[in-house]
Amino acid sequence: MLEVDDVTKQFGGLVAVDDVDFEIGEGEIVGLIGPNGAGKTTLFNTITGIFDPEPGGVVEFDGRNLVELDTHEIARLGVIRTFQIVRVFDEMTVLENAAAGAIFGSEESVSRSEARERGREVLEFIGLADKADVEAGALPIARKKQLELARALAAEPKLVLLDEIASGLTPGEIETLTDTIRRIRDERGVSVFWIEHIMDAIMGVADRIIVLNSGEKIAEDTPAGIRENEAVVEAYLGEEA
Ligand SMILES: Nc1ncnc2c1ncn2[C@@H]1O[C@H](COP(=O)(O)OP(=O)(O)OP(=O)(O)O)[C@@H](O)[C@H]1O
Ligand SMILES: [Mg+2]
Repeated sequence: MLEVDDVTKQFGGLVAVDDVDFEIGEGEIVGLIGPNGAGKTTLFNTITGIFDPEPGGVVEFDGRNLVELDTHEIARLGVIRTFQIVRVFDEMTVLENAAAGAIFGSEESVSRSEARERGREVLEFIGLADKADVEAGALPIARKKQLELARALAAEPKLVLLDEIASGLTPGEIETLTDTIRRIRDERGVSVFWIEHIMDAIMGVADRIIVLNSGEKIAEDTPAGIRENEAVVEAYLGEEA
């Protein structure tokens, strides 16, 4: 479904993403981990059209070349992301936020009533329906993160990219969130590519994990394999992981 080949992204002399290759298949949950500054967010930005990779890099989704496309065009093909710093429309209600995802993420034009209907459905799915009429800016952080996920789902994506969606949450909130992420795949058939530093969250859900270090992919394996990978333990996980 997503194919990334020979993708490099430089900022001046800094190679933030260094010749990375991988694929994500339909119905997979794939984790992306690695130290701060490893290039994880930059890789997301390169996939979603915020940056172009250096010449020669390939990013394809369902056989379509994403490299020349803008972010909104990529979204319409079914690749939707959330942000490391949560971004909801503070002055809009929770329902309006969710409905906005339906309007901006769809290939055909969506009527307001249809957008609201889809918004309601995703809020129900996420467990935010009781907050539909609340101003989004008034929500606590865990709820804002749920809303960001709901807004992404309202766009009816085939693949969602989550950038540290579990950070700043309590263990109980993380459990709810990981359960939701599993249901996104199991009940909605959406694939997930998930950057996370909280290992308990990602290791329990991901089918496969990719590890970046200084821009390079240093490992790709099942969670169990990653925990035992010496290079990963040394670069990132530490001895006690
Ligand atoms: N727009 C930019 N301009 C210049 N340098 C950048 C830019 N974005 C990221 N970088 C640099 O690229 C490197 C990779 O950053 P990136 O944000 O992708 O890391 P990350 O793996 O997401 O880290 P974290 O876990 O802290 O979020 C860092 O050295 C960072 O300073
Ligand atoms: Mg990041």
